[in-house]
Amino acid sequence: MAAASAVYQEILNPCLSIEGRCRLQGVLKVSGAKNSALVLMTAGLLTDEVVELTNVPNLTDIDSMGRILSALGVHVDHSDNSIALNAATLSSHEPPYELVNSLRASFFCIGSLLGRSGHARVPLPGGCRIGARPVVEHIRGLKALGAHVSVEHGIVTASVKGSNKRLTGASIVLDCPSVGATETLLMAAVLADGTTMIENAAQEPEVQDLSNLLIQMGAEISGAGGPVITIRGVERLHGVRNYPVIPDRIEAGTFLLAAAITRSPMRVEPVIPEHLSAVLQKLRDCGCKLDIDQTGISITPGEIQAVDITTQPFPGFPTDLQAPFMALMTTAKGTSVISEKIYENRLQHVAELQRMGASIRVESSTAIIEGVIELSAAPVIGSDLRAAAAMVLAGLAANGTTKVSGLEHLDRGYDNVEAKLNAVGANLKRQQS
Ligand code: UD1
Repeated sequence: MAAASAVYQEILNPCLSIEGRCRLQGVLKVSGAKNSALVLMTAGLLTDEVVELTNVPNLTDIDSMGRILSALGVHVDHSDNSIALNAATLSSHEPPYELVNSLRASFFCIGSLLGRSGHARVPLPGGCRIGARPVVEHIRGLKALGAHVSVEHGIVTASVKGSNKRLTGASIVLDCPSVGATETLLMAAVLADGTTMIENAAQEPEVQDLSNLLIQMGAEISGAGGPVITIRGVERLHGVRNYPVIPDRIEAGTFLLAAAITRSPMRVEPVIPEHLSAVLQKLRDCGCKLDIDQTGISITPGEIQAVDITTQPFPGFPTDLQAPFMALMTTAKGTSVISEKIYENRLQHVAELQRMGASIRVESSTAIIEGVIELSAAPVIGSDLRAAAAMVLAGLAANGTTKVSGLEHLDRGYDNVEAKLNAVGANLKRQQS
């Protein structure tokens, strides 16, 4: 027994120690959206002028993307929450495997590299714990735009023939509304000859944010945020100063769930409420009162009742909030059914929640959760970014001190999470050894 706990301790370092049964009070501040910032950074490759982003979150994923762009010869100037990118010095079309492997979004630079200079060699992104995550749609779309694409030895090589090295506009119907494929093709099409239409496009707010940046850079795009996007190719794009990244809807949702699971009235800001409609509806359905204004949301949790969720592409309930929402449901009154429809292996947090006393049964990609009166603290592992967030939420509510490891995942997507939560009354400590 002692040996087993020593092994667990070994696995668990470093960890976040969380005092449970906490009550939160005050305002939780939301940073810029990770998934927007990452793709906006790759859009910087499309011009030889400076693209400056503000409201950039402080995350290891952002640092990784900065390193990838630097390896391509881009001058990256990162200070506080702003990043200025200058791709006038672009000198490589092949991001290094070791860096791409750590960050799936870096594959999306294949679209901007091709659009800008007609050539790209990008390693296939690595495997992912939550599911297969293919890039078939990205490749199919680039071929439709006239690129020659081959995949050999794990590297995707794409090039455009012809003296002007420009892609050619085309009609593309995506088989599934992939966020990454929509963003890749959007960036590839803005400098193509002629008009491109992307049907069954992803409608996520991050796609719209990318479109808004590209429009400010001189692109001609209509329909982003809806299922059909039309792009009229232009000759060149120019730089932009002070483009603010949208607030992170997933971080905002996680904070609203932190309020709900600790039964604490809180305010979360800034939030663009339309980006969270499906989540807000579920929070109301389970017994939270929400006051929404232009800058944020005030939440007053009541007695939390079980509700069912099914993850879907936007505007449906986001897969990235499935694990955090499940943490809330473990303490709800009644039985809830949570179905994961986007990723085939995104219920790894179930076993960890069970270690904390949650009553959960899994059937295929569905979890059936019987709410318990209280979770009990335990050492747990966050096996991916959102699973780690779910463990933090569970720890805030549990009886005792929870130790959450897997911080390398948490730090990829939550900007300074312990400082933010501690500022509103939580007691989180990072233990390095
Ligand atoms: C983005 C987000 C991620 C989020 C996901 C779904 C970024 C950096 N990441 O990931 O946080 O969880 O959207 O909202 O923005 N698919 C295919 N073929 C393809 C591409 C995708 O079948 O060629 C499927 C995937 O297997 C998955 C679904 O489409 O089931 C969604 O994937 P996609 O929208 O591409 O996710 P990402 O853009 O990688």
